[in-house]
Amino acid sequence: MDPMKNAEIPLDHRLATPADIPALASLMNAAIGELQKPFLTEEQIASSRTIMGLDSRLIDDGTYFVVEQNGELAGCGGWSRRATLYGSDDSPGRDAALLDPANDAARVRAMYTHPGFTRRGVGRLILELCEAAARSEGFRRVEVMATMSGEPLYRACGYRPIEDVSDASGGAPVPLLRMAKAL
Ligand SMILES: CC(C)(COP(=O)(O)OP(=O)(O)OC[C@H]1O[C@@H](n2cnc3c(N)ncnc32)[C@H](O)[C@@H]1OP(=O)(O)O)[C@@H](O)C(=O)NCCC(=O)NCCS
Repeated sequence: MDPMKNAEIPLDHRLATPADIPALASLMNAAIGELQKPFLTEEQIASSRTIMGLDSRLIDDGTYFVVEQNGELAGCGGWSRRATLYGSDDSPGRDAALLDPANDAARVRAMYTHPGFTRRGVGRLILELCEAAARSEGFRRVEVMATMSGEPLYRACGYRPIEDVSDASGGAPVPLLRMAKAL
């Protein structure tokens, strides 16, 4: 892959479908394992797998985006009008209750960029798509439970910290940061 050439190729986006699930799972596996290395220990990365990964509810809801460059899967991420703030299909404590756009913050969910496509604006593009979609449904605020790897992206896109969190449901405590932005 030629990075200079790829930098000039536009990023395409579309909604994810169930047929994307195997490729999305493999991309997430790579992003979780590689891109958290500067921020977490190996034990914390292993533990984070309990609270990260694919939430197929987002695909069913039509709120999960895929970004491709030249036909290659570059990243994915989405938003939700449901209460669950973070986690995968297998994570504990899920809550599918619908949020109230007038009073609740929409959720940004499950953002992952393939390690071969980082720092090309994939994450930023997905956040813009999520915020526009949430705004169009009447939400005025958006929240995310940021990983340490995700925090720089969210800060760069205007999200501000609300609460430090530690999640030890997978073993080693994983530091997280709840963040929010006005839409
Ligand atoms: C978080 C993640 C999705 C960011 O993806 P990305 O496509 O590389 O992000 P972008 O290229 O859109 O970055 C936009 C801006 O965010 C900031 N940023 C993103 N990643 C950064 C990093 N590792 N270090 C410092 N700043 C970073 C920069 O300001 C960047 O702009 P710049 O490249 O012009 O300096 C990716 O690192 C990832 O998949 N991490 C592992 C999974 C994860 O933890 N996801 C978050 C769940 S909450």
